Amino acid sequence: RPAQAQQGSAFDFSEVVAGVDETHHVAEGYDADVLLRWGDPIFADAPDFDPTNQSAAAQERQFGYNNDFVGYIPIDGSSEHGILVVNHEYTNEHLMFPGIVTIRNAQTPPAVAPDEETAEAGEQTSTEAELTPAEPVEPEVVVAPADQWRADVEMAAHGGTIIEIRRDNGAWTPVLDGARNRRITAKTPMEVTGPVAGHARLQTSADPTGREVLGTINNCAGGVTPWGTYIMAEENFHGYFIGTLPEGHPETANYERYGVPGESYEWGRFHDRFDLSAEPNEPNRFGWVVEVDVEDPQSTPKKRTALGRFKHEGAESIVAPGGQVVFYLGDDERFDYVYKFVTAGTYNPDDRAANMDLLDDGTLYVARFEEDGTVAWLPLTHGEGPLTAENGFESQADVLIETRHAADLLEATPMDRPEDIEPNGANGRVYVMLTNNTRREEANDANPRIDNAFGHIVEIAEEGGDFAATSGTWEILVQCGDPSIAEVGATFSTATTENGWFGMPDNCAVDSDGRLWISTDGNSPAATGRTDGLWAMDTEGEARGTSRLFYRVPIGAEMCGPCPTPDLATFFVAVQHPGDGGEDWEPFGRPSYYEDLSTRWPDFRDDMPVRPAVVAITKQGGGRIG
Ligand code: FEO
Ligand code: CA
Ligand code: CA
Ligand code: CA
Repeated sequence: RPAQAQQGSAFDFSEVVAGVDETHHVAEGYDADVLLRWGDPIFADAPDFDPTNQSAAAQERQFGYNNDFVGYIPIDGSSEHGILVVNHEYTNEHLMFPGIVTIRNAQTPPAVAPDEETAEAGEQTSTEAELTPAEPVEPEVVVAPADQWRADVEMAAHGGTIIEIRRDNGAWTPVLDGARNRRITAKTPMEVTGPVAGHARLQTSADPTGREVLGTINNCAGGVTPWGTYIMAEENFHGYFIGTLPEGHPETANYERYGVPGESYEWGRFHDRFDLSAEPNEPNRFGWVVEVDVEDPQSTPKKRTALGRFKHEGAESIVAPGGQVVFYLGDDERFDYVYKFVTAGTYNPDDRAANMDLLDDGTLYVARFEEDGTVAWLPLTHGEGPLTAENGFESQADVLIETRHAADLLEATPMDRPEDIEPNGANGRVYVMLTNNTRREEANDANPRIDNAFGHIVEIAEEGGDFAATSGTWEILVQCGDPSIAEVGATFSTATTENGWFGMPDNCAVDSDGRLWISTDGNSPAATGRTDGLWAMDTEGEARGTSRLFYRVPIGAEMCGPCPTPDLATFFVAVQHPGDGGEDWEPFGRPSYYEDLSTRWPDFRDDMPVRPAVVAITKQGGGRIG
């Protein structure tokens, strides 16, 4: 097997060949085993998955759809027995209910327009989802009217899973009678905490207290805190709302800034709270960071409003030298911002309970990347600078509900879609994934490419190595894309092979050896001639900027994770939306795909649909990965 150790590299493995096919691939000498798929039981009494007869009640006992963030919380410090936490970001109706729902993102527009009259007349559609054969989806799409049963399955397939897992004789398995096992859905009662709790702008007819929200949605990345709680970040919440605000409603400008209503789902036809004309304040109850105590399956998840309201990609944290806990937060939208939250209190490693409300008190900052290579962290604090009543902010609650507007007034730096942000305790730096921004017409120093199709990574060094500092320096680690195409402007090191480059960085992880791993979202035959995957990226010494491919996903999927166990012997990765059609996108003249290749990963059975799944990667014979 060819040795690929590079002088000064932190990695030593044989690179996967980049490409596209119906299955996943891991580096030679490693195993990649499916651990949990959509529909798998989470409890001993959960019903078997039947894709032709799915129900909300069954889905609430089964693994949800579109696994994104994966976290591992060790039990008694073990790297072979722990609690896996997984976000279920969104649902792909055309893959979950094949044959009866419009195909979003298809290359050809639907041949039949949605017929609302038919829906209102209550015409029945088949509830038996006929599975299409493993061949290209026909562009002639029949659009079924919305059904409440489908909306309710989708709501139950959102949220998160908490499940005990164990490694025996090398193989990972779920522990179905684990005492902490839990499904969180779009209907799970949650408590609003922090400065916004109870505010009039969060009150609804179902909840006049403004403190009790049902559910969490579009949980993309997330985090695990130093005290072992599970953080779920609410990202594209705008898409779940339909309807219009009453004329002249005071939330009009607020909702416009967040793209509400996004009208991607039809839940509002069956549940009034997702219809703005019925419940105008409901969108203010989403877009937060949620904290879950995994040790108590009866605990009420908390929406921690001190961390702001925006399209939260994730919330990874680290303890600063002074003991404050610092959370790095991306707002994933073109031209939106990078944030961090610094707790007022300090972390107590000896008393878990003492940390449980740290997230309710602290300072939220937004980043301004200056031309001279410094970064300024600007506090979003009511009464400071422009964040006053004259500008519409009556209190800190208003600043947090309209975090984006407050950050606009502070003249934060508009970025190329901030995704995951990961602090590295080993070198004191912070890695910011900027996935792409094809609408950028004017460059700034931290976002130097117009029409940035492939994204880049910014590295921040906080002042004095203190993650709680209010200033630091920054530089670009790498501009992504194919280095062999000059006009792309990629800046991977010259040691990076034709398999090693990537576009569209999204999730990332820093492992316990301080090594950076990057997952991508958007590579496809059309965009880059390869699928998404997991790349290992050197950040130190002469190997800095060298990337190599460790694992790649089946066609149509996006790569989420990775989540290494503390001993680095297992990496959990999430394969999201395999088989999805992606976009008809040809920035460099490559043909779009979908017509000629599809997949039924991971089962490859005629009676099973393609399914998102979490995969456990281990080294054959054991040992550290990578
Ligand atoms: Fe859900 Fe920003 O990716
Ligand atoms: Ca995703
Ligand atoms: Ca993401
Ligand atoms: Ca993404």
